[in-house]
Order: sequence, then structure tokens, then C-alpha cells
Amino acid sequence: MPEIHVVQRDNRRLYENYFDPYFRLRHDIYVKQRKWMALDRPDGREIDQFDTEDAVYLFCLDGGQLIGAMRALPTLLPTLMSDIFPYLSLRRPIRRPDVYELSRIFVIPERRGEHAGPRVEMLLLTAIMEYGISIGLTGFSIVLESWWLPRFERCGWRAHPLGLPQMIDGMSVLAVLVDCDETTWRSLCTQIGLTSPTLTWHGLTGVNRQILPDISLLHSPTVQPAR
Ligand code: COA
Repeated sequence: MPEIHVVQRDNRRLYENYFDPYFRLRHDIYVKQRKWMALDRPDGREIDQFDTEDAVYLFCLDGGQLIGAMRALPTLLPTLMSDIFPYLSLRRPIRRPDVYELSRIFVIPERRGEHAGPRVEMLLLTAIMEYGISIGLTGFSIVLESWWLPRFERCGWRAHPLGLPQMIDGMSVLAVLVDCDETTWRSLCTQIGLTSPTLTWHGLTGVNRQILPDISLLHSPTVQPAR
């Protein structure tokens, strides 16, 4: 099964070899395939102003190959919502210590739509919930295309719109705040058959976080016996 690694300032040196392929993959996916030409760079790497040392990455690795990823940014710092799309939020863009902004979620084309095991995309959605609970977050803000909403609904992510959808470069885009809580995480784990936390925290012993128990050890809702 693929592993999801937390990569941030404190352990980035352990994953340095993955960053060049990572930024090249982003260029292939967002510029060449999705045609988000504003992200084009002549060096073939998609890197923006939010790829700072404060960014947190989830790298999905399988046999040493990077097959998917996601980026999380503290909302106390500049984010896509605060600096590029503030008009998507009816109120002021979210700036809270307990909310991170998610962006750049992708799975490499060869590993999309899999049915043999948990879909890589579902693994990432489960893993970021685990990350959020572990470090005490209560939500994720996201600027996304509206086709994500039924997907979130299906997997149990609760997304609250922060404003009205707007057409941007031919895409219907909106800002949402997604609840980050243990109930959602447990439900995702159950859906994809995980019985224990999945994140790998190599080199992050100094990070202040809650160690999550195995799912089976968590309190289950009482089931009424059939009469
Ligand atoms: N527009 C509309 N719907 C889309 C879509 C897009 N660009 N990309 C995916 N979907 C929806 C469709 O309903 C699709 O079903 P379909 O096969 O009938 O079209 C469904 O998602 C399944 O997507 P698929 O790509 O087959 O598999 P997946 O669920 O494993 O992966 C993503 C989903 C989004 C992770 C993957 O498509 C991806 O990496 N895309 C490129 C990166 C990207 O656009 N990320 C979002 C913005 S950061």
C-alpha cells in the first residue's frame, strides 16, 4: 500500500530528492494537462509564491515513486485565498491558527480511478484529516472547482461555502471551509479499510502533535440491538 509522508521544514532535507520530480509533476499536470497557463514557467517546474518553508506537503510514495501529493499552508500566512482570490469569500479571508489552506492535490494519471485498493486520492483526503487532527486543526480552507463538492459529499467531507461560485478562466470556482474532526477521519478510515493512522512522520519527532490511536480502540457509537 502507498505511504503518505508528512514533509515540512524540519524534515525537508530527508525528501530533497523528491522536490524536483514533484515540481515537474505539478508542471505536467497543471500546465500541460489542465492548461492553467498562468502557472507556466520556462524551467518546466510549477512553483509558486506559496511554496515557502512554511508549506506542509503530503507526499504519497509507492515503491519510492511519488504518485500523488497535496499542499497545506497555515492561514496566518499568505494563502491563495488571501492573496489571489479574496473576492471568493463574502467575509474577510480566513486567518486562523486552527485552519490550514489546502491546494495542489493531484494523483499521477497512471494511478487515478483505481479500484484494486483504496484510491490514492481517498488516501490523501484521509491522510490530511489525520494530519489536521494530529496538530489540532479544526478546518481546512480551499479554493476549488465546484466539481469537487459532490466528491466531498460522497466521502463525508463537510464543505461550507464561504462565497458564491465565480467563473474564472472557464472554471466554476468557489471558496469553502471544510470541517476537520475525528468523526470525519474515522469515517474515511472505515470507507477505505484503514484500521490505524496512516501518516509517516520521519524526522519529525520535534513536532508537537497528538498521537492518534488505532481506529478499533476509539469509542464506537452505540448500536441498538435489533428486536
Ligand atoms: N473536471 C471535472 N471533473 C473532474 C476533473 C476535472 N478536471 N478531474 C476529475 N474529475 C472528477 C470526474 O467526476 C471524474 O470522473 P470521470 O472519470 O467520469 O470524468 C472523477 O473526478 C474521477 O477522477 P479521476 O481523475 O479518474 O480519478 P481520481 O479520483 O483518482 O483522481 C484527482 C482525482 C482530482 C486527484 C485527479 O483527477 C487529478 O490528479 N487531477 C489533476 C490535478 C487536479 O486537477 N487537481 C485539482 C485542483 S488542485
